[in-house]
Amino acid sequence: MPTQDKRRNAVMGRVSRAVLTAAIAMPISTTANAQAHIPGAHVQGEALTPTGQFSVYRTAAAQTPPMGWNPWNAFHADVDEAKVRAVAKAMVDSGLAARGYRFVNIDDGWALRRLADGRLRIRDNTFPSSATPGSDTGSFKPFTDYIHGLGLKAGIYTDIGRNTCMQRWDADTPNLPVGTVAERQVGSYGHADQDMRAIFAEWHFDYIKVDACGVADYTRTDPPVTSGAYDTFAPLIVRGNIPASNPQALERLYAALGDAVQRWGGGNATLSICAWGEALSALWGGKRGNLYRTSPDIESNWKSMVSNIDSVIDGALYAGPGHWNDPDMLEIGHGDFDAAHLTEARSHFTMWTIMASPLLLGYDLRQSAPALFDIVGNPEAIAINQDPAGNQGVPYRNGDAMVVVKTLSGTGARAVALFNRGTRPVEASVSWAQLGFAAGRAAKVRDVWAHGDRDATDRISVTLPAHGSVLLRLQGTPSDADATFLTDIPGRVNVAADGLTQATTLPMGQFPARIGAAPDGRILKTNGIGAFANSRLEVRADRAFHRFVTVPTVLSGGQSVRFQVYADRKLVGEVSGSTTRAAPPIDVDIASARIVELVAVTNAGKVRPPMIAWGNARLIR
Ligand code: GAL
Repeated sequence: MPTQDKRRNAVMGRVSRAVLTAAIAMPISTTANAQAHIPGAHVQGEALTPTGQFSVYRTAAAQTPPMGWNPWNAFHADVDEAKVRAVAKAMVDSGLAARGYRFVNIDDGWALRRLADGRLRIRDNTFPSSATPGSDTGSFKPFTDYIHGLGLKAGIYTDIGRNTCMQRWDADTPNLPVGTVAERQVGSYGHADQDMRAIFAEWHFDYIKVDACGVADYTRTDPPVTSGAYDTFAPLIVRGNIPASNPQALERLYAALGDAVQRWGGGNATLSICAWGEALSALWGGKRGNLYRTSPDIESNWKSMVSNIDSVIDGALYAGPGHWNDPDMLEIGHGDFDAAHLTEARSHFTMWTIMASPLLLGYDLRQSAPALFDIVGNPEAIAINQDPAGNQGVPYRNGDAMVVVKTLSGTGARAVALFNRGTRPVEASVSWAQLGFAAGRAAKVRDVWAHGDRDATDRISVTLPAHGSVLLRLQGTPSDADATFLTDIPGRVNVAADGLTQATTLPMGQFPARIGAAPDGRILKTNGIGAFANSRLEVRADRAFHRFVTVPTVLSGGQSVRFQVYADRKLVGEVSGSTTRAAPPIDVDIASARIVELVAVTNAGKVRPPMIAWGNARLIR
């Protein structure tokens, strides 16, 4: 048996992802109507044509997951400049800034009104330094100067629609925008260029979060609209209902806003998309922004935290340098994660670390307990989160035990989180096969929370207490020094076309391209990537490899699938197969290509493309 088969089989033997296989029978509903216009082989037409590009949001920002602080989880609408400045100062004085926390962001609640010429007026009773003699808008420049003077970066907030979330959901706050219906339209809809110009070119912010209530919660029947307080907005997001939403229109709005961010903020400005994973935003977010929410708002309880993990844990192929899945800001310091619940706080941080999630603190740093600082300031955990390779960890599930493996930069370097989502102690273990380490060879193991070092061979097993976790950094010997498996470098893979032709009913947390599993959750028998046909994956090979090897497989459907491999847009390999007639393996020269593209095309006019796998897909040095 080839090494790679042993590897996946060993993985399979021990760990099941039963949770998934049981729960997921994926209802992909593609409208017959849309299909009718599209001639078979070109279901996604241009999307399947190789580009020779790595087509994620073009930016120099957020090459590692953003780190910082946001006031929402601590203060909600009750935010003011004094608090934000004091927290920024505390971030520096406590040493958190030196550990990597950079951004101090303002959330909802800063805008007072939109003036007749479209400019925004800042609420100067809560942000007093913005009051500027002779200016009817005021300016955030004194505030951002202060933040920059501390060596930090400043962030701000808007909405992609006409109105923000607070206006809909926090009607009692005194910090709502004021004036006529039109004056209270402080969201950026129709004002993207003007607002981004003020925010980046005049006020010198570095980061913007763009919320989406304005295109979700102002339908004709919503109370603030029926009362006449707000204009209606035909929703682009119907929460939890993808077919009723309009993913394409929403993506276009964020794309235009992203253009304005780059126009006025340059390539270093960070764009955070906050559409809660709705309208397939977790799938297209990486093309349109630096981070993109995958779930509803986190709450300070265990159940919510775990459900936000589930919204993102299978999405490793949708994240990498410059584009990150965002399971929301940290709730450490509150409720189930406060200083009296350090096990839970540590587990929350362990998971955000291993998932390469943004680390945005949400508690009042002016009153930070030292025990919390020791968690969120742990330099070894932060280094795992901030590893420059930008790989999101890949999960293995066994009941309440979850093992997540994150390939770090440097040969044989891995981080592993072992996590107990339940309330009873569980055994969790990780094998050398899962890590791609040579059998019988010892690895150095660093326990990030216990601050201990040891050696281990072939397997590490631990007993985790209720809600407990262990975070390890390992240095081992790869089983195949010449091969780099695509499953180990999700940060270098981009799902450019995903085989979904129209709005689907994809449940939140389910991704059409997966590591180690088919789109329906079925575990792959080989160490590969599962996807739908009519998909195109872009792989950043960066001229470091000569060959590409894979065993392509058709997992479902009656029709034949063509598997094509392109090296810098040149077709270098092509085979066909179906469920009844296996495709031959591909082993091709990629001539030190920069970008390798994997295209799976099906001709048959079926509504739902078959599921496929790029088995044992690997680049060879
Ligand atoms: C929500 C968003 C929160 C916060 C809030 C402000 O939609 O997810 O993170 O920004 O709006 O009103």
